[in-house]
Parts: sequence; structure tokens; C-alpha cells
Amino acid sequence: MIGKLESRRILITGAASGMGREIARLFSREGADLALLDRDEAGVKAIADELSAKAFGCDVADRPAVGRIVAAAGEALAGLDGVVNAAGILDITPFDDLDPDSWDRMIAVNLTGPFNVVKAALPFLRQAERATIVTIASVSALMPMPGTSGYSASKAGVAMFTKCLGMDLGPNIRANSICPGVIRTEMTRFLWENPEHTARATERVSLKRLGETDDVSRAALFFSTEDSGFTTGTELPVDGGFSWR
Ligand code: NAI
Repeated sequence: MIGKLESRRILITGAASGMGREIARLFSREGADLALLDRDEAGVKAIADELSAKAFGCDVADRPAVGRIVAAAGEALAGLDGVVNAAGILDITPFDDLDPDSWDRMIAVNLTGPFNVVKAALPFLRQAERATIVTIASVSALMPMPGTSGYSASKAGVAMFTKCLGMDLGPNIRANSICPGVIRTEMTRFLWENPEHTARATERVSLKRLGETDDVSRAALFFSTEDSGFTTGTELPVDGGFSWR
């Protein structure tokens, strides 16, 4: 059977763990050639070895390094047809106690990181016949939650950034965001390892469960193929019915 991403060359950030890693596995099964980027060098090498992909250790907030590494990734794959921005960090702290350095870091990684990556990938994406950009934002881009002023600001920013890319980069490049609810990854281990926290987190979710990484990877696949060929500049909640708006 021919995969949905056969001969597509895709760069995935945050690929050493969680959603980025699951997206890498699904995209590989669908036939994509992958360049995987993460600041966790050992982790990204492990998944790249598993999938016969190219591994790149890099902090998405380090603009000069991203410029060099994304160029190297594009050279290694002889072009890029798509980017998935999954690298991200979370600090849940009430605003009174939020450290300004933590604010700066969340904006640098979650918002400026995708800017750096897309900017560096653009010359390659422009060469592709039909290119795609997928950003993992969050339900925090859509609604306020306690203690998430910095995280939510970064995610609302990156969702609007991606929407604007949809407008600026058409017609040959499409850009969409995914807004996951709570997904069981390392980032949320503190929550799902605690039954009380899990019960509270699922209470408001219509589908009465937390999300899994494959709930998100399938949405990323949709946005990276012609199945979504007439869709750009959108934010898709993948949250079991939590953000309702
Ligand atoms: P995770 O912690 O399992 O994976 C995040 C990956 O990003 C890690 O491999 C980490 O090393 C990498 N990373 C972090 N900062 C980086 C940087 N500066 N440069 C390069 N790589 C970096 O987390 P998860 O849950 O898979 O998160 C993926 C994305 O989904 C993030 O953007 C996160 O904000 C977002 N998200 C997560 C939700 C959840 O419930 N887990 C819900 C909504 C959004």
C-alpha cells in the first residue's frame, strides 16, 4: 500500500518525546522522509535511528543555530515539503509568582521557536509544489486557565502567527494549528499520574478521557496531506470536547 506521505520530506521539531515523536512514527509509516529536531540530542538520535531518519540536536529558541540546522536538514533531505512545530515547554504558575525569566523562555520556545523554524525552512518550502506547516498550539490558545498566563500567551500567539502564515504564504503553502487538550505525555505526567488530578481534568471533557499522542498525530497527518487541501489558517481543537467556542 502506498503511504499518504510517500516522497514528502518533513521536518518535525520536538521529535524526541510525546506528540512530536508519535507524529514522527506515524509519518514514517506513511512513507515520509524525516528530519527530526530536538534539544534532547540523545532522545532525537534514538527515534531517528528507529525510523531511519536524520537527527538534529538544536534549541528552537537559538535563531542562528536554527538557521544552520534547518538548512542542513533541508540539504540532507534534498528539500522540505512540510514542517511540524511540536517543540514546547509548560510552566503552570499563578501570575503573582510567575518568574519573568520563565515568561521569556516560554515566549522564546513556544512562539519565537516556530517563527525561527519556519523562517529558516521557507526557502525550501517555497521550492515545494505544495507545502504544509502544522503547529501544535494548545486549547490554552483558545481559553484562559489558572496559572497559564505565560503559556497561554505563547500559544495564542503561535496560533495567530500560524493563521497569518496561512494568509501570507498561500497559495502553495498551507498553515494550520492543532489545539490539543490534556494529552498523556511527559509534559503532563504530573497530572495523569495522579488519579484525583486526572478525574478533575476529565470532568469537563465530553468524551470523558484524556487525549493520547495518536489523537494528535492523526490530526497532524490530516493537515500534512491533501486530505486537508482546501484548509488553511485554522485552529483545530483535539480536546474531546473541552474548549467549546
Ligand atoms: P513533551 O515534553 O513530551 O515533548 C516536548 C519535546 O520538545 C521534548 O522532546 C523536548 O525536548 C522538546 N523541546 C522543548 N523545548 C525545546 C527547545 N527549546 N528546542 C527544541 N526542542 C525542545 O511534550 P508534549 O506534550 O509532546 O508537547 C508537544 C507540544 O504540544 C508542545 O508544544 C506543548 O506545548 C503542546 N501541548 C501539549 C499538551 C499536553 O497536554 N501534553 C496540550 C496542548 C499542547
